[in-house]
Amino acid sequence: MDSFLIQGGTRLQGEVTISGSKNAVLPIMAATLLTADTCVIRRVPDLSDVRFMCDILKSLGAEVQFEDGTLTIRAALIRGHGDYELIRKMRGSICILGPLLARLRKAHVSLPGGCVIGTRPIDLHLKGIRALGAKLQIQNGYIRATARQLEGTMIFLGGRAGPTVLGTANVMMAATLAEGVTVIESAACEPEVTDLAHFLNSMGARITGIGSPTITITGVKELHGTQHEVIPDRIEAATFACAVAATGGEITIRGARPDHFHAVLDKLIEAGVKIDQRKSGMVVKPTSRLKAVDVTTLPYAGFPTDVQAQIMAFMCVVPGISVITERIFESRFMHVAELARLGADISIEGPSAIVKGGAPLSGAPVMASDLRASAALVIAGMTARGSTKVNRIYHLDRGYERMEEKLRRLGAQIERVEGE
Ligand code: UD1
Repeated sequence: MDSFLIQGGTRLQGEVTISGSKNAVLPIMAATLLTADTCVIRRVPDLSDVRFMCDILKSLGAEVQFEDGTLTIRAALIRGHGDYELIRKMRGSICILGPLLARLRKAHVSLPGGCVIGTRPIDLHLKGIRALGAKLQIQNGYIRATARQLEGTMIFLGGRAGPTVLGTANVMMAATLAEGVTVIESAACEPEVTDLAHFLNSMGARITGIGSPTITITGVKELHGTQHEVIPDRIEAATFACAVAATGGEITIRGARPDHFHAVLDKLIEAGVKIDQRKSGMVVKPTSRLKAVDVTTLPYAGFPTDVQAQIMAFMCVVPGISVITERIFESRFMHVAELARLGADISIEGPSAIVKGGAPLSGAPVMASDLRASAALVIAGMTARGSTKVNRIYHLDRGYERMEEKLRRLGAQIERVEGE
């Protein structure tokens, strides 16, 4: 398993270009199963999760080509039975359920895996798919879904922690080919869901209320091929912004959409980071007057849970006390113990982590537990004195395209150590 070796203490300086969004492209790839025509998707990040999804689509019978950031997918003849092991490995794979069911009226999909960030139920996905008229059975680790005809209806998709991102994606995709009108209430408003809805409309779907909590889908008989460019990855952009905030320096983030992560930018500004929108991109530079801020993760447009670990790493180096509250996933604090190995002073009280920042961090071997926790450890490692080894960075490779190269170009001393 690869690891990163980081020599801390270097300020980040220069320009970084943001890749296409992982969380947008995965459901969009699944949506290509809704048509027998060719779909071309651009600005696709080269990530292990994307490669996994390519393999899943191939295992269903689709032809998939991935070259220079462009995916060409033709799902002319497909079967409803995916590879158990492949699907189990990746949480995002659950969103093949809706399209398979809509296209074939049957789907046989294994229960998904993914990051270890708490129990991740799929009850809302199943509730929505059932409401459309499908019969569902869970047996031997598989979901078996069948439907003679999917029928539009009103579906409330709010859960204990608010809306569900992939659940909304799944039900929205299934409803595109249903008979009649489906209304999803308490739909997720994340930009990735919006991007999927635009993709579906470009295939001939009839979706309105895009980006709002009420999405209306008028079913159509069939969908056709299309071309689409994926939105930039707001979580990657936010990660680089937190990184420079923590290390010091000044970077220009190119290609990001600031309107997609206002909550993060707002917190960084409150913490004393200067953010300027210029033609060349977003210039991010911490001032000399940094202060601790409190953060609570919420559904979009609130502060994203996927940036909670990274802002915590930043708060570790800012003098003062910061309370970071996780409202989306319970036990998404796996990075806390690892940050503590670097000398961070963090205690957990219920859903909150209390960070006493400002004490200097010192390098140590640490273990990445999930995708965003890995990013937090890289940020902390870059601020620590001495060398930090981040083990198990396959988590990071799932969601960040060439992260070490991008950081090296910004002056970080980071290298990949292969296969240890
Ligand atoms: C997606 C993102 C993930 C992000 C998360 C929240 C992808 C591939 N992953 O995950 O990076 O952290 O959104 O922004 O896009 N829930 C239920 N029942 C369900 C589904 C979810 O109770 O059927 C709960 C979850 O446990 C969690 C909350 O709803 O507490 C939000 O989860 P959800 O939005 O579904 O996350 P994902 O779509 O899996």
